[in-house]
This record gives sequence, C-alpha cells and structure tokens, in this order.
Amino acid sequence: MSEATDEGGAAVGKGRSDDDYFSSYEDVQIHRLMVGDTPRTQAYADAINKNKHLFEGKVAMDVGAGTGILSLFMAAAGAKKVYAVEASGTAALIERVARDNGFSHVIQVFHDRVENITLPGGDEEKVDVLVSEWMGFYLLHESMLNSVICARERFLADDGIMFPSEANIFACPCSLQTMYREQINFWDNVYGFNMSAVSDYALKSKLTKPEVHDVKESDLLAQPTCIKKFNLRWVTEEEIQLFSTTTFVGINRPGAYQGICLWFECSFDGRQYNEEGEELGTVVTLSTSPSSPPTHWKQTVVVFGYASENTSHQHPTTPHDKNVNTKLPTGTDKIHEEKVNICQKETTATVSNCTESCKLKTSRDENRVETSGAENDTIPVKISSPKSQKMSNNTTHNNNDNNMTNNSDNTTRTNANNTTRTNANNMNLVEKDEVVGWKLTLNQSSDNIRHYTMTVEMLDPDIEEHPIPCYCPIPRCLIITNMMEKEMEDGDIIDCT
Ligand SMILES: C[S@@+](CC[C@H](N)C(=O)[O-])C[C@H]1O[C@@H](n2cnc3c(N)ncnc32)[C@H](O)[C@@H]1O
Repeated sequence: MSEATDEGGAAVGKGRSDDDYFSSYEDVQIHRLMVGDTPRTQAYADAINKNKHLFEGKVAMDVGAGTGILSLFMAAAGAKKVYAVEASGTAALIERVARDNGFSHVIQVFHDRVENITLPGGDEEKVDVLVSEWMGFYLLHESMLNSVICARERFLADDGIMFPSEANIFACPCSLQTMYREQINFWDNVYGFNMSAVSDYALKSKLTKPEVHDVKESDLLAQPTCIKKFNLRWVTEEEIQLFSTTTFVGINRPGAYQGICLWFECSFDGRQYNEEGEELGTVVTLSTSPSSPPTHWKQTVVVFGYASENTSHQHPTTPHDKNVNTKLPTGTDKIHEEKVNICQKETTATVSNCTESCKLKTSRDENRVETSGAENDTIPVKISSPKSQKMSNNTTHNNNDNNMTNNSDNTTRTNANNTTRTNANNMNLVEKDEVVGWKLTLNQSSDNIRHYTMTVEMLDPDIEEHPIPCYCPIPRCLIITNMMEKEMEDGDIIDCT
C-alpha cells in the first residue's frame, strides 16, 4: 500500500485530503451521466446477467457503488449478499434504493473508503466476486484502480472473480482536422477581423494538455494498437505507477498526423466449467474506441502542435522540444467540456527541457462551477523531438488544402530518408505505408496518485529499436510477428503481454 493508508488508503495523495474528490461525486449530474451512458451501464448489466453463475448464492462487493446500480444488478442476479462500498454521501441513497427495490436484506451499504472498512465477518471474511466501475480517461486517470487493487487484496477470495477482468489501453495516430478547424482556425477570420492571436492562444492550450474528444473512426490513420494489458486479478500498484510503451505502426490512411488518440477496452470474462465439464458464461466487452458507440469517456488525445510563427518565440527550441504541464478535468472527470479551458502561463522550465508550464481551469459543464477537487488535478504532457524528424516553423510552403486558412502557420518536415515535405497549418502529413513511432510513458505522481504525468516522445522508425512483436509493416517486424503468431497458434509460446 502507498504512503497514505492512514488517511484513507492508496487513493489519498501526500499532503492533500481526498475529500474534494469524493464530494465531487456527490453531484447527481455525474451519476446521471454515468448511469445514462448506455454502452457503459449495459456492459455491466450484460456482464452480470450473462454470467449469473458467478453471482447466484454468492457474496459480492461493489467498490465505489455510487448510486447503487451495479449492486442492484448483482442482487437481481441472485447474489446472497452485496457489500456496496461508497465513500461519498451518495451512500445514503443506496440504502434507500436498495429498500425501494426490495433488496435491503441483500445489499449492505458501507459509507466509507473501501480501504477503511471491515466486513461483518472480520478479516477472515472474503467475497466471491468484486465488481467496480473504476475507469477514468485513458483508463488510469483518477487512479481509482489503486483502491480496487487494495480491495481485491483484502477482500477477494483466492478463487474470486474480478469484474472487469481485463483492461487494455489502445493507441493510434490520428488526424484532428475538425478540432483545428472548429477550435483553432475559427479565430482566423471572425466577422472579417483577424483574431489569430486567439487561435495561437487556443492552440497553445491544446498542446499543453491531453484533450478529451470524440474522435471519429475516419480520423484514425493506422490500425489501432493495444499498448498495455492489465489482468485485473493480478495487476499490482507498482505496475500502474510507471510504465512506458514503444509503438511503431504503418499508416493506412494518409493524412495530417496531429496527435495520438488513446482509449481503453475492458472485458468481463465469466467463463467457467461446471462439474459436468460444461462451459458456463461468456465474455462481455466494453469498448471506448472511436469505432464503438460513444461513451462519456470519449477518447483522450495528445495533440501535436507545430507552433506557428506567432508563437515561436515561446518555443526556444524546435516545436517538439517541449515539456508542459497540463490538466484534465477530473476528480470525477466523468463530465468534461473542453469549452472552458483557460490557459494561464504560470512558470517556466521546471525540468531540464521544459519550456513552459500551464495550469488549465476546467469545468465539467459551462453552466456549473468547477469543484476545488478538479482545480488541483494536473496531467503533464511532454512531447520530445523525434530523433531525426526535425520540425521547423519558419519555412514557406504551398500545401494549403484541408480547409485551413492560416497561411502563417507553416512547417517543414525532414524525415529520416532526407526527403522534405512541407506542411501547413499544424499539419504533419503522413503517407500510406509510412511507419511512425512513439514512446508513451505514464507516471503516477508520488505527491498525489490521482495525477499521472503523460510523456510522448516521437521516435524515428529507422533508428529506434522496434518492440517484439511489432505491428508495423517493416519486413523484419512482419516476419518476426508472423512467426510469433504462428508459434502461438501451435502452442509453442505463450502470450504473456
Ligand atoms: C465511477 S463512479 C461509479 C459509480 C457506480 N458504481 C456506477 O457504476 O454508476 C465511482 C464511485 O466510486 C467511489 N469511490 C472512489 N474511490 C472509492 C474508494 N476508495 N472507496 C469507496 N468509494 C470510492 C466514488 O465516490 C464514486 O461514487
């Protein structure tokens, strides 16, 4: 367990109470948004109802029960007992909801952090199944998984089941033309006035924080790659504290490469064999991919910017040589509106190659006041130079399609083969079959574990070592990956990713 167990467990950051986080979950609109998110709530309903054998006559725990919907699903599926654990004030509502649905005798509510509770049977009592909806933007934001791991270690029986059972993070290079057009280039001509000062300002704010967006499937420039898998029965707090993944992919849709799109999928694997050897249950998947029905998580995008001439004085090195602090909406970052981000330049150079640090005020809804819990959640993003893909923002060009109108915003890209392409208006054009690579690092803050530092480093596919397996179309990677897949099919190697 992390340093803060005495103050409520892993969810508490050093020197700061988590009360803001929990009180922000007392906002009923957040619960309306979550419960009304059909792909999300239906996935849990299906996972429970299609795997009733895991619940009938069993003891279950709902970690972070909110308004109690998952506890109701479990009680209705035949659970003997459901421990509904909720730290926020909504715990009182669960009592009433349980009663109103005739489940008072099944659902027992704990109004406390799961790290603090003791079950009626004391330390010896264990549960058969632990269900929780803990996922944040790009899966890990909000860090509720730490609390779920703590609950699993304390309360789950050795042969107990975790729902969801697996969670995977996906990444894909993407184009952000709509976002640029609607939120950046909008300012270039407003009622006939040149307000590009505002577009520069707007762009800068996008570059300093991961953006929560509805990315269209057609904006994805490559086959999505699963960059990280977590088996929730065994994942440890150490594994989610710090990790890096290196990815190379082949472009299959030429276009403007303007960011890395991140999302997650969770699966609920309820398959078990009964004594007669029959397989019971099924696997249910909740996907937040751009190809799936939209959820309140949308997708998270790390925006690459190619600073315009007007902003270049704020980037003393190449546009990619920057390291910036940012903030996503949070606490309960279940409601996010991008509209109200106000970037205030606060400090300079906090680490070696840092050029700026930017705190963003956020609100979940433009009609509502943000909570102080949200105020303090920051997510730094660093974008480093591609090793040999040098960006320059002071060259001329004439590539001006894509309905973008800011002619001052020019970039030139020299790739590893020494060919030069000119890009316009923050576009970084990539061609079919071109290989692009990046290294993504997520680092949970030791001061407040609800915060992650996200670092994206562009990699040159010709120079950097590719992972094994690698899903890029370079012949060497294709051969190795095909061989590995064949051996896996033949049962010679086991996939341990
Ligand atoms: C994403 S919401 C899910 C609510 C509900 N399970 C649902 O699906 O609608 C997460 C809930 O977990 C609660 N929570 C987060 N960490 C917790 C902890 N360590 N102990 C108890 N409750 C926690 C929050 O207050 C919030 O209500």
